[in-house]
Amino acid sequence: MKVIHCKSYEEMSDAAAKIMEEQIAKKPDSVLGLATGSTPVGLYAALRRDYAAGKVDFSKVTTVNLDEYCGLAGDHPQSYRFFMQDNLFDHVNVRPDHTFVPVGTAKDLDAEAKRYEKLVASLGYADLQLLGVGPNGHIGFNEPAEELFLETHVAPLTETTIRANARFFNSEDEVPKRALSMGMGTIFAARRIMLLANGAAKREAIKALLTKDTVDTKCPVTLLHLHQDVTVICDDEAWPL
Ligand code: F6R
Repeated sequence: MKVIHCKSYEEMSDAAAKIMEEQIAKKPDSVLGLATGSTPVGLYAALRRDYAAGKVDFSKVTTVNLDEYCGLAGDHPQSYRFFMQDNLFDHVNVRPDHTFVPVGTAKDLDAEAKRYEKLVASLGYADLQLLGVGPNGHIGFNEPAEELFLETHVAPLTETTIRANARFFNSEDEVPKRALSMGMGTIFAARRIMLLANGAAKREAIKALLTKDTVDTKCPVTLLHLHQDVTVICDDEAWPL
């Protein structure tokens, strides 16, 4: 595991943008696994900046997002589809029909999970998968549990995650209680994984990842030890050592 300790959020975001842009330069038709939330906002801003400066070309890229809230349509301001349009897709030359996010309003959510898993598999999984981490160690919406799902599935959100994500909604009650999420197998099929963490709330999860020599399904991020190409990029507040 490669670990990059950055001084600030901006430095973390620029380091992540550099890795993503190098990936696209090396393989213009890369499949990028993308994440939402507050962590990658700076990364997406850096990608928009570098696209405007002619430094990166998304024309052949395909994107697959990790997750989507159940019940939220793509035009709902808190949906992850909306987030991706707003933060990246509407500002760069990625083909709209090459961007994939699970459909949270599907009538049959289990069927949608299966369709999405097949789709990601048919693309050959991600060349580079971006991850954030929850304060409780979740990745995607693979929440701490005795057992973790391998494939894309309907995931109940834990109380901790509902509370953490309430900041984006008017109240905790409005936070969807379930999400469609790639499973650990979907994520781990990526050739390379890049995990970003900023802020003190992430320190415990990053500490578990960097200091323990065991893996624990009750802290899903620790399973990253089992992947052979992981880069962790932390800002100073999240740095646990
Ligand atoms: C988002 C996702 C989540 C977030 C995590 C951290 O697509 O899969 O696992 O990465 O909840 O969220 P933030 O970045 O808002 O702290």
